[in-house]
Amino acid sequence: MHFFQHKDGVLYGEECSVEAIAREIGTPFYLYSYRTLVRHFETFDAAFSDLPHLVCYSAKANSNGAILKTFISRGGGIDIVSGGELFRALQAGANPAKIVYSGVGKREDEIRYALREGILLFNCESYQEPHVINGIAGTMGVKAPIALRVNPDIDPHTHPYIATGMKKAKFGIDIERAVSWYQEAKRLPHLTIGGVSCHIGSQLTETGPFTEAVTRVRELVLKLRAEGIAIDYVDLGGGLGITYHDEEPPDPREYAHAICEQGKDLRCTFIFEPGRVLVGNAGILVTRVLYTKEGEKNFVVVDAAMNDLIRPTLYGSYQEIVPVKKRKGEEMVADMVGPICESGDFLARDRVMPRFEPGDLVAIMSAGAYGFSMSSTYNSRPRVAEVLVQDAAFHLIRERESYADLIRGERIPSFLEGK
Ligand code: LLP
Repeated sequence: MHFFQHKDGVLYGEECSVEAIAREIGTPFYLYSYRTLVRHFETFDAAFSDLPHLVCYSAKANSNGAILKTFISRGGGIDIVSGGELFRALQAGANPAKIVYSGVGKREDEIRYALREGILLFNCESYQEPHVINGIAGTMGVKAPIALRVNPDIDPHTHPYIATGMKKAKFGIDIERAVSWYQEAKRLPHLTIGGVSCHIGSQLTETGPFTEAVTRVRELVLKLRAEGIAIDYVDLGGGLGITYHDEEPPDPREYAHAICEQGKDLRCTFIFEPGRVLVGNAGILVTRVLYTKEGEKNFVVVDAAMNDLIRPTLYGSYQEIVPVKKRKGEEMVADMVGPICESGDFLARDRVMPRFEPGDLVAIMSAGAYGFSMSSTYNSRPRVAEVLVQDAAFHLIRERESYADLIRGERIPSFLEGK
């Protein structure tokens, strides 16, 4: 459910005409709907009202400060994977006591930063990591709260690049070895064992793999408790999918139901790290048609490209193409492509779409998650603007980058200057 709809044939974000925004901001730009973000957060949060829980929005999906603040101001915590995400979360006003930190490669400076700020939990992903954190915490005179992120070896039935809870993935530690590693971690003087964590993959469209994961985590929690290891938090990660095309993912209530069955008597606080389900359908990418090429194969060339939205290129993902102004008349089968010098630069392939003409505005739907946050400046294309609509007003929440931004930080060594 989102608030991007056509009214009299023209696309609106809430009460704002997308055409009017494009006139003022230029194209391409990401457009997010505040009402949709709030609705998604509240629906997700309310689904778990029977369990003690904390919703830590996964910043990697979309780390714009205004988006982070939207969730933080509703009581949300943040799931981070880097020092940069910690910085962004704190800048947006996150309570460090609601920040959880996953990731297979935390550097010493990042661990130190997170310890200094007093985050809730480090989700450790290797044998060495708790030892490294213990050492750093010792030098700082603090105790570090940790969980081990276990890999329960479950097939989440999603794209292989975003399946994370199978043995062949780099993430987490083998659940079979977890008890002995917890026993060892418990003996480290500068750690406190806070919980268990697990994240099996992203864009999951069935409850089965989640149920399996929580069942395995539950068995582990019971074993750990039998060994005298207290577990206060169970972090089940993110991963709930959304509809891009014809997927029918469980809604947050069904997802919660699957988890609550196994979780309700565990006497711990559950942490969830949703990303895509909160922001995915709350954002669109607005682009303008530059040229059309008709022939054996048809192409619609637009001013957004794979550097702005890499999901179709990287995962072969489907993003719905919607004309900002509905046009009557014929349709055509075409590829929607960008200006980048690669044949892999496409936003849609062999898609039935209106017979677009140069100047038309197009909305690429479901682009709020892993859109801007995965964008780059490849081909020296400045990153696009981001806009947030709230009812009838729209707000620029990130300026379009300039050419000067492209070379910020670059240095020409003096030998090249002929000095
Ligand atoms: N927690 C952890 C530890 C994660 O690794 C992730 C996502 C999440 C939470 C949030 O997952 P979500 O609720 O958004 O599914 N770039 C890919 C998705 C990569 C997901 C990486 N980890 C895409 O565009 O589909």
